[in-house]
Amino acid sequence: MIDGKFTILAIESSCDETAAAVVCEGRNALSNVISSQIDIHKAYGGVVPEIASRHHLDNVNWVCRKALDDAGAAMDDIDAIGVTYGPGLVGALLIGLATAKAYALATGKPLIGVHHIHGHICANYIEHKDLEPPFMALVISGGHTNIVEVTDYNELRVLGSTRDDAAGEAYDKVARVLGLGYPGGPLIDRIAREGNPEAVEFKRVFLEKGSMDFSFSGIKTGVLNYVNSEKQAGREINTADVAASFQQAVLDVVVAKTVEAALSLGKDKIVVAGGVAANSRLREMLKAECDKHGLGLYHPSPVLCTDNAAMIGCAAYYKYKAQGPDDLTLDAIPNLPL
Ligand code: KG4
Ligand code: ZN
Repeated sequence: MIDGKFTILAIESSCDETAAAVVCEGRNALSNVISSQIDIHKAYGGVVPEIASRHHLDNVNWVCRKALDDAGAAMDDIDAIGVTYGPGLVGALLIGLATAKAYALATGKPLIGVHHIHGHICANYIEHKDLEPPFMALVISGGHTNIVEVTDYNELRVLGSTRDDAAGEAYDKVARVLGLGYPGGPLIDRIAREGNPEAVEFKRVFLEKGSMDFSFSGIKTGVLNYVNSEKQAGREINTADVAASFQQAVLDVVVAKTVEAALSLGKDKIVVAGGVAANSRLREMLKAECDKHGLGLYHPSPVLCTDNAAMIGCAAYYKYKAQGPDDLTLDAIPNLPL
């Protein structure tokens, strides 16, 4: 306990960020340490699972130590250990999970396994102290694109998912086609500001009427075909225009489906989470639609949008209050359902 408050040491290692945080009473992050491997994976144009696991192993102990130090906390102040156990890269998840289990076993403190998507949504509780369920959530990242109905802190129902690529994955692949670099999301976000979103007409994929699912692989291929045909015709490509047009095609669908989901299920607020939630155009478009329909809109600051452990500490707190601890036999589940 710190000042009588339930305090969790949380660990996140599902992809390419090794992260640890100390979180009090679910919503107060006393520290939030993130060791990113982006520069290492840049050379390969994407995350290499084997390399990610190795770096998690190198980093996880000092990241946890720094999280405690930054919070001015000792292990004795910690009441429970929270950790992401899925979904994610199995080798990467295992490093965080084994570390959390070792701390739990050595100290006798409870272990709490967290679903990564639950964590992303909970980032908003840290950012917005008065936010409470129910609401409609859009979780949009490099690994996921989900519309989730949140009726209580631990009551989540997935209404729609991507059937192929996640939105962030499409951003990253298109950025590669345009020669922008990795990770592509922030680069497209920036360059698209200088482009015309109506310059190239990419197909908006809404799927069957009423479906809350997504499909982004067609848009990705559309960009690739456009770039190739322009090159073959000897025409110069306006990168900013293509980036802006691609982004607009993706976000038109994402925003329309999210707002429709909120309205059709009678929710009065939308909560956005995940790496792509940092996107400036997504924020602008959602804000305009939410204002039009009288919906509240919440998103975390950029550091809490991308993978971090503070969000895992928050989710662990609410799960523990409702369900108690997990067993030390808890396993990493790469495709863990919500
Ligand atoms: O949540 P996150 O750190 O990891 C996953 O759980 O996937 O999200 C990373 C993703 C990457 O695809 C990255 O390109 C994207 O989030 N991203 C963005 C922006 N910042 C990060 N996409 C669009 N615009 C941004 N500003
Ligand atoms: Zn994530």
